[in-house]
Amino acid sequence: MDRTVVEKMLARAAAARREAYAPYSRYPVGAAVLAEGEIFAGCNVENVSFGLTMCAERVAVFSAVAAGKRRIKGIVLLADGSEPPVPCGACRQVLYEFNPEMWIVCADLQGNRRVYSLPELLPEPFAAFSAEAQTT
Ligand code: THU
Repeated sequence: MDRTVVEKMLARAAAARREAYAPYSRYPVGAAVLAEGEIFAGCNVENVSFGLTMCAERVAVFSAVAAGKRRIKGIVLLADGSEPPVPCGACRQVLYEFNPEMWIVCADLQGNRRVYSLPELLPEPFAAFSAEAQTT
């Protein structure tokens, strides 16, 4: 985990966070993933039908995948609050899909940071068909 790259990812996550569409929760989130040397950012996008809301992490991951970059090394997550946010359970499973060993940097606007590995946050992933996915 390269500190300079993490700083760049944080800057991209902050920029994406400013674009968050969060009129219901008023909780804007920014994320940025590092995939094959490139950074892809995302923000949360809410919907009046609340269950359709998409988290910032998944937007960032799907953006990388759409650009043909599936090998994701790590993710940075940024939100305001009393302590850094951690990815929701659904996002943890999505992160697992693209790298079971991914690193995760969680940051808040006060400059607090926590670093996790995905196995720490998702010790029992659903992985029934994972071996098949590696061959596609
Ligand atoms: N949210 C994220 O973007 N990432 C997370 O890991 C947790 C929650 C968003 C979804 C919703 O727009 C808002 O935060 C409040 O749940």
